[in-house]
Amino acid sequence: MVLPVYVLNGPNLNLLGSREPEVYGRATLGDIEKAVKARAKSHGLIVVFRQSNHEGELVDWIQEARTKASGVIINPGAYGHTSVAIYDAFKALDKPIIEVHLSNPHAREPFRRHSYVTLVAKGVIMGLADKGYLLAIDAMADLVGGTAGKTK
Ligand code: DQA
Repeated sequence: MVLPVYVLNGPNLNLLGSREPEVYGRATLGDIEKAVKARAKSHGLIVVFRQSNHEGELVDWIQEARTKASGVIINPGAYGHTSVAIYDAFKALDKPIIEVHLSNPHAREPFRRHSYVTLVAKGVIMGLADKGYLLAIDAMADLVGGTAGKTK
């Protein structure tokens, strides 16, 4: 059995749907979770979907992924731009990492152009709104085996 894919979401993403909808779209995080789980199921994958506004909690989950996940998809929110702790946690994780952003941070304020997570990510999907999560699941299925039933 392939271990679950962790889909982690950083600060303020709990507000999706009402937070700057012109930037982030109208889908709520609950809508995204439902769509992600359905897409994962079509690949024979299980998803653990979580959100936190707390940097340390995200670090704890990335550490947990060392033994409990086959790979990690993360929208780190603003922590992508600032968190060396999250970067270090990922450096200790020998599993595929895919970074997702709903908006295109490169088309926004200059401080959003740098991401620590990009330094450790296998791939980055940005600017495609909630669809980016589904593309990340498709890519992760290729990376971890999906319905092939490999242990990884
Ligand atoms: C975001 C982009 C970040 O710059 C921002 O801080 C977020 C959301 C996105 O999904 O577009 O919180 O990660």
